[in-house]
Amino acid sequence: AGAVPFHGPRQAAVLAEPARHSVVAAFDVIAQDRTELTELLRALTDRARFLTSGGPPAALGITGPPADSGVLGPEVPGGALSVLVGAGATLFDERFGLAARKPPKLKPMPTFPDDALDPQWCHGDLSLVLNCAEPDTALHALRDIARATRGGMQLRWKIDGFSSPPRPSGTPRNLLGFKDGTANPEPAERDRLVWTGDGGSYQVIRLIRMLVEFWDRVSLAEQENMIGRRRDTGAPLDGEAESDAPRYGQDPVGTVVPLTSHIRLANPRTAQTDGERILRRSVNYDRGVDSNGNLDMGLVFTCYQRDLERQFETVQGRLAGEPLTDYVSPFGGGYFHLFPGVTDPADHYGRALL
Ligand code: HEM
Repeated sequence: AGAVPFHGPRQAAVLAEPARHSVVAAFDVIAQDRTELTELLRALTDRARFLTSGGPPAALGITGPPADSGVLGPEVPGGALSVLVGAGATLFDERFGLAARKPPKLKPMPTFPDDALDPQWCHGDLSLVLNCAEPDTALHALRDIARATRGGMQLRWKIDGFSSPPRPSGTPRNLLGFKDGTANPEPAERDRLVWTGDGGSYQVIRLIRMLVEFWDRVSLAEQENMIGRRRDTGAPLDGEAESDAPRYGQDPVGTVVPLTSHIRLANPRTAQTDGERILRRSVNYDRGVDSNGNLDMGLVFTCYQRDLERQFETVQGRLAGEPLTDYVSPFGGGYFHLFPGVTDPADHYGRALL
């Protein structure tokens, strides 16, 4: 993935190709008042600007701790990292008197029918996504940000993500073995589907465990019918190539692409459902082993849209009870609104709010 310029009217890293490594995290703000919140958002902006542009860390003299952890060597490389920052609905509660500034469609993530949410892995006042090519770049950035914002915010939850190189080509694969991220809005559709008028975007994060041992005992044909695409090529079951569009009009009862398949439920591709499409940017996660000796891995599902209810929640509602729900289990995540982009060196995240 090429470097994403830090300054601009939007947080352009939303549109970047999937990164090999990411950190997805949420923070609780512990700043006491609006002045401290402004300081926090300034500090966060300064660190994001430095960490994405790179350069030598500040020299702080010889007695105190060094300004930088040193994990990336004496100079922080430029263009190796991108950063996304968003606000959760709780940032607009009574603490900071910002209720009137709340992005109009922002609200807490509800519990959906097939969810098994763990409160420790849900919500947050701020979201942070770091994308880069190497795991140490993300961890260095997270440490730097946590240090510079100490007293203003603290980590609530954090998960490391990764995505695969093309195997053998096309879109990266998720841990069910299927290409994930194929059908996404085209660049020309993003103003209509992704960005809000102020240059922000509503961000949905869903931490979804995959019951991989169970999935690995299912026949390939059944797996492919659950998804609606071929596992090897990523082509829809009625097509040849990954980029082929399914033609549901020619298969009205789902003889080839089942009506209950994930892709057909998620996006029926009708004129009425066109405005419900979302921009997906999911990555894989691995959290080791659970207390029963089962592999704990899955998807950090992330999507961006103009309207949470019209887009994500409508799609999620159609997926309720789909066959795939037996093999996945959402346990965390949240709803956030990405701040508009930081336009220049004097600007900071959330300046329009404060
Ligand atoms: C498409 C997997 C969760 C919405 C796909 C595809 C796969 C997949 C393999 C086909 C390739 C592609 O176009 O990217 C999964 C898995 C999930 C999951 C394994 C859970 C672990 C979700 C959720 C949503 C969602 C929570 C939204 C509520 C979509 C949409 C498409 C899609 C909109 C594109 C459909 C199209 O336009 O043809 N997913 N997905 N997925 N998924 Fe999911």
